[in-house]
Amino acid sequence: MRFVVIHGPNLNLLGSREPDTYGTMTLDDINASLAQWAEENGSTIDTFQSNMEGELVTFIQTAGAAADGIVINPAAYTHTSIAIRDALLAVGTPSVEVHLSNTDAREEFRHHSVISDIVVGRILGLGAIGYRLALTGLQQHLQPGTLTSE
Ligand code: DQA
Repeated sequence: MRFVVIHGPNLNLLGSREPDTYGTMTLDDINASLAQWAEENGSTIDTFQSNMEGELVTFIQTAGAAADGIVINPAAYTHTSIAIRDALLAVGTPSVEVHLSNTDAREEFRHHSVISDIVVGRILGLGAIGYRLALTGLQQHLQPGTLTSE
């Protein structure tokens, strides 16, 4: 299967950005771990990070449309971007939302996600492992019964 993993604004600073909240892994570390997951699971993963809303929208319209599944951490755009919501709705690719931190346990403005009702599922607060969990869940959603543990 072909997956894309999309990282929103400021996630390029992972490793040094508020490590108590977001952990010490860099974005390169996370992407390398996702490439390993893809190899282990016979899938391909394209990763993309941008600080710009329009670039994220264009990536969803192109690579996201061609993928079997999307894992997305829209970062701060989670709480504001109708453009990202509309792009996900337009392409219709099954998507899972990931947040490194537990956004529900933080400031009030982080409690609302404008994509929470259009994604297959959400993973919050588990740190970088959340991306691998999201991919496993999405794979299971797309091909039920394929997990070796079942
Ligand atoms: C985040 C949570 C958002 O509220 C925040 O703006 C981020 C990162 C997370 O992964 O925990 O940039 O999406």
